[in-house]
Amino acid sequence: MAIIAPDLGIDLGTSNTLIYVRKKGIVIDEPTLLIVSGSTKRSIKSIGQDAKALVGRTSGGDIAVRPMQDGTIKEYDMTESILRFFIRKAIGVSHLVRPRAFITVPCRISAVEKRVVREAAVAAGVRRNAIHLIEKPFASALGSGLPVFAPEGSMVVDIGGGTTEVAIISIGGIVSSKSIMTGGIKMDEAVMNYLKHDYNMLIGDRMAEDIKIDWGTALPPKEDRKVMVRGRDIITGLPQTAEITATKIYEALHGPCQQILSAIRTVLDSAPPELAGDILRKGIYLMGGGSLLYGLDRYLANELSLPVTMAKDPMMCAAEGVGNLAENASLLPRIGRSTFMRDEAE
Ligand SMILES: Nc1ncnc2c1ncn2[C@@H]1O[C@H](COP(=O)(O)OP(=O)(O)OP(=O)(O)O)[C@@H](O)[C@H]1O
Ligand SMILES: [Mg+2]
Repeated sequence: MAIIAPDLGIDLGTSNTLIYVRKKGIVIDEPTLLIVSGSTKRSIKSIGQDAKALVGRTSGGDIAVRPMQDGTIKEYDMTESILRFFIRKAIGVSHLVRPRAFITVPCRISAVEKRVVREAAVAAGVRRNAIHLIEKPFASALGSGLPVFAPEGSMVVDIGGGTTEVAIISIGGIVSSKSIMTGGIKMDEAVMNYLKHDYNMLIGDRMAEDIKIDWGTALPPKEDRKVMVRGRDIITGLPQTAEITATKIYEALHGPCQQILSAIRTVLDSAPPELAGDILRKGIYLMGGGSLLYGLDRYLANELSLPVTMAKDPMMCAAEGVGNLAENASLLPRIGRSTFMRDEAE
């Protein structure tokens, strides 16, 4: 039995939770999702990957719960349960000293929300007073290999499921940032709303996400291909099919893409002149699952007239970043105050 548990890096995402274990790497990469019984007792039936396989196939009133919303904890008990389950799966339970953890949080998070994350982590098995909250874009920049400690500006845009985090980073800290509650899930909702309004048709989350991934685009499509979509009639509830076009999907997704663009513009406008030059030269770095939307990199590059580089593993960057800290706790003192949000109790 190991006496001291290894340090952990936890990327607690709205869509996916990843856990990095020191000396092992990323060992958990699963949806932040549970299936619970619909009754008032809400017992948990399934968590993570297993839960995802059951979405849309549940019976007896069981429901799928996403305990994180817009990057913050919406359902405390469920978040604690999911964290406990993943931490046990990652390192087991037999340690005398509980693990230390570096956990990602959005830039806009309030003091109360920070406390909620810490309490959930402690309840899930992390050592109290050994929790370090790291702002998502800093974690993503570090994890994607950008020179975050150098005296030069780097601009990152992490488009997740629930939040888009835009930040300029230099000398180990966040110089300026913006976090908006628009990401992949808002894109799915845009597709759903479009079908509701134009076809009186209801489709599930999963179908909406599939349409976005397979047919969605941030650029006007060159050829207007047609796509068959299955759903339910909004009034009769009966199954229905509709033939929609790639152009219409593009139009539906344009709103969220514009919101992301405008958040980037806001941060660019606030860049100190010394760092603006670095950003004009290097451009911006994209990561997060939402950045995989077809054409989004080119759309942003065209609109901003800046180079746009996609990270190598866009959905892993934040976890690699907190993992980096789990491997090298000696980096901590080099992280600026705005980024390194230590437990106030320490
Ligand atoms: N090929 C793709 N095209 C478009 N979107 C994609 C693609 N692959 C994944 N996504 C979207 O990426 C999102 C999940 O990304 P990610 O795992 O980075 O989010 P997260 O870290 O859990 O969320 P957050 O950081 O906002 O809390 C989902 O909305 C998913 O639909
Ligand atoms: Mg994320």
